[in-house]
Amino acid sequence: MRLTDEQQAMRDGAGGEILARCLEVIIRYGRAFGAERLVPIRSAHLTGSFRIFFYTAYYEIVRQLVEHGVRVRVPTTLNPRPGYDYRPQNRILFRSQRWHESQLEALGVTPNYSCVCYEYANLPTFGDVLGWAESSAIIFANSVIGARSNRNSIMVDICQAVTGFTPEFGYLLDEHRRGQLLVDLSGIRRMDAQALGHVIGRLAVDRVPVLTHHPFTRAELKNMGAAMASSGSVTMFHVEGLTPEAPDLASAFGGRPPAETVRVEQSDLDALAATRDQIRDAGIIAFGCPQMTLAEAVEIGSRLVGRRLRKPVLFHMIPRAAEELAALPLYQELLATGVEIHTHCPLAALSLRIGFGNKDVLTPSGKLHYYLAGARYASLDEVLRAAGAIDAGDGA
Ligand code: F3S
Repeated sequence: MRLTDEQQAMRDGAGGEILARCLEVIIRYGRAFGAERLVPIRSAHLTGSFRIFFYTAYYEIVRQLVEHGVRVRVPTTLNPRPGYDYRPQNRILFRSQRWHESQLEALGVTPNYSCVCYEYANLPTFGDVLGWAESSAIIFANSVIGARSNRNSIMVDICQAVTGFTPEFGYLLDEHRRGQLLVDLSGIRRMDAQALGHVIGRLAVDRVPVLTHHPFTRAELKNMGAAMASSGSVTMFHVEGLTPEAPDLASAFGGRPPAETVRVEQSDLDALAATRDQIRDAGIIAFGCPQMTLAEAVEIGSRLVGRRLRKPVLFHMIPRAAEELAALPLYQELLATGVEIHTHCPLAALSLRIGFGNKDVLTPSGKLHYYLAGARYASLDEVLRAAGAIDAGDGA
């Protein structure tokens, strides 16, 4: 590993012993993956926003950093809150949450509390090198923005934030950003981006899939990528003629032919859907994993307003987007309809559902379906139908 004079000085303790240890973590992480140097990052994003009984080593590192007056060297954002005031059991599970937040804020972290950091608080541009954790944000940054981040973990993320460096390997290098698997979408009649993300994650695992053209919206790209990064460990994807490093298939594959081609059929997407009984029995409907943007809340909320909800409906929104929604008449209309609007992470908040009688959750989120025990998947229209937004006989 070649270090610059600045990096060597930091390793030798010029910034204090705790900072030297953080740099050592980054160096060893890089060595494990064959990196030859550390490069500066434009920003960091941390996953460690929850204070819970595990991750004790992480909290100890944060404590020591704060005690020694260390601050982040680059703009650094933070994943969502866990919903510690959501239900009594959450207050117990996350009882030290406020203390943890004060520690992170003492480090200079931006208290945006969103996994969709790239919409408001942390705005990378094409080619920026990032030291992010949070798989849903990383896959969006790599694929849709054209910035460059590896799939970093908790611990590594904070070491990158305080040192300002990341090892150069993997998705930071052109050769690892090229497509490896062509995904032919011509067999799909009704696009469901989140189900597709789930299917592709399973097919691609850790490869870079290239999807044939489909005019996905920004929200669909967000949600589809999050699903891919959950059911697989996909860190980057391309969509022909849509994402910035894939103006055409030849560019996406770096001029080489795809090593493999798979065709996704409509039946592959449909197979993910919950059964009628599961939909009927689900006790909670949850939207927003990753957290909803304003556009998503307006689109889905407009279909719910004024309807008689058949089940509790929960929106999980980017905090800034929720503030913007609160300024619209739709906000009060949604509350009057009975929609609960939250800004925490549904995976954390709904993990213990004692207050709901441990009921199953119905969601159109491929990521929440994958990670949350008892979360059933259905397409957006099916979830809206179950909520009461679409009449039973309406084929919309
Ligand atoms: Fe975000 Fe929590 Fe889902 S961090 S992607 S809302 S699991």
